[in-house]
Amino acid sequence: MQRLKIEGGIRINGEISVQGAKNSALPLLSACVLSRGKVTLHNCPRLSDVFAACRILTCLGCSCSFDGNTVTVDPDTISRSYVPDDLMREMRSSIVFLGAVLGRMGRCSLSFPGGCELGPRPIDMHISALRQMGVVIKEEYGVLDCSCPKGLKGAKISLSFPSVGATENIMLAACLAKGDTVIYNAAREPEISDLAGFLNSCGARISGHGGSVIYITGVRELHDCEYSVMPDRIVSCTLLGAAALTGGEISLKNSRPQDIDAVLPVFEQMGCGVFVYDDNIYLNGKKALKAVKTIRTMPYPGFPTDAQAIIMAVLTKAQGTSVIVENIFENRYRHVDELVRMGADIKVEGKVAVVEGVKRLFGTNVIATDLRGGAALIIAALAADGETVISNVKLVDRGYENIEKQLGSVGARICRC
Ligand code: EPZ
Repeated sequence: MQRLKIEGGIRINGEISVQGAKNSALPLLSACVLSRGKVTLHNCPRLSDVFAACRILTCLGCSCSFDGNTVTVDPDTISRSYVPDDLMREMRSSIVFLGAVLGRMGRCSLSFPGGCELGPRPIDMHISALRQMGVVIKEEYGVLDCSCPKGLKGAKISLSFPSVGATENIMLAACLAKGDTVIYNAAREPEISDLAGFLNSCGARISGHGGSVIYITGVRELHDCEYSVMPDRIVSCTLLGAAALTGGEISLKNSRPQDIDAVLPVFEQMGCGVFVYDDNIYLNGKKALKAVKTIRTMPYPGFPTDAQAIIMAVLTKAQGTSVIVENIFENRYRHVDELVRMGADIKVEGKVAVVEGVKRLFGTNVIATDLRGGAALIIAALAADGETVISNVKLVDRGYENIEKQLGSVGARICRC
């Protein structure tokens, strides 16, 4: 099992360009299936989840090649509409291939994506919306067998929760459907707008993205395009958190500050200096950190659930009592026990975590519990006294491209062993 060894007590200091966004690259790779003609994606992060998505494209018969951070997909050799169990289990967010494969092939079979470390991860909203669009879905023996005998048709769909994945799947299925589709209570995350931007570059007709109502007019076909993946807003939060907790300073380039409007004020409340200019963010963490009022995770534009573990790690040394309420996932505090092993004072009751700031964290052996929980342990290790060894680092590799190289470039003493 791969591990990271981190020497604590060293200030993060330097400038770094933010990698492309995992949670945009994945739906964009799925969307390539809809295009007639080659698609080129720039700024695509080299992550295990992205490689898994490329394996699904290959399994469907598409060709997919990487050159640095540029991926070229030729979807015109697509010949299958089945995503096998092993690939689905490798990455549960493969469910986002459903809408695209249905749009291109008129049918799709994939094994039911299991739950994950964050909780059951149901897909009831995906299924109900696609059924409204004329998809016949049989769920048996763990397989979703989907077909549209009369073709996909536009529908007015109201989501009971602004689900990111369900919004993406509906957009993908609606691009080539007959007629108009309207999504009410759509997810507003920046990744949704990135997907709409990509699809419109391929000739789709989507508007309203970024708001709660998205309009899609079905077109006959989509064509080739060249597109650049947006920067990863959660990686930005992670790098800022590393500088804040180690008392350092960092400049993020190509970071799109507006995507983390709900997080930057939290760093300022902690006492950090935060300066935004164009696509860059500068953070100075030299002052002692102060506890913050209650943080509640919410759908965008609220505080992002993916930044919860990361900000919690920073708050472990913030003077006073901070309160976090996790409203999106049922089981997203698995990193707490590992942070407590490092000397943090955190108590969890249901959705609420209470963080009492401590003066010191201590390096020790810890285990990454999930992607963002692992990132939280890395941040804590950078500020701990002594050495920390973090196991199960493959979970972190799902969302952070060569994390040891990124942090090493801004002064961290970190190696993979
Ligand atoms: C996306 O997951 C992201 N993943 C997650 O990031 C992120 O935490 C989440 O959106 C929320 O922002 C990708 O984009 C690949 P949801 P997704 O559908 O689409 C419930 C990370 O760390 N729900 O908005 O699965 C669901 O159980 C990952 O990068 C239903 O009940 O999120 C959850 O409680 C983790 N029924 C809530 O909605 C459904 O049909 C939010 O889910 C769908 C969702």
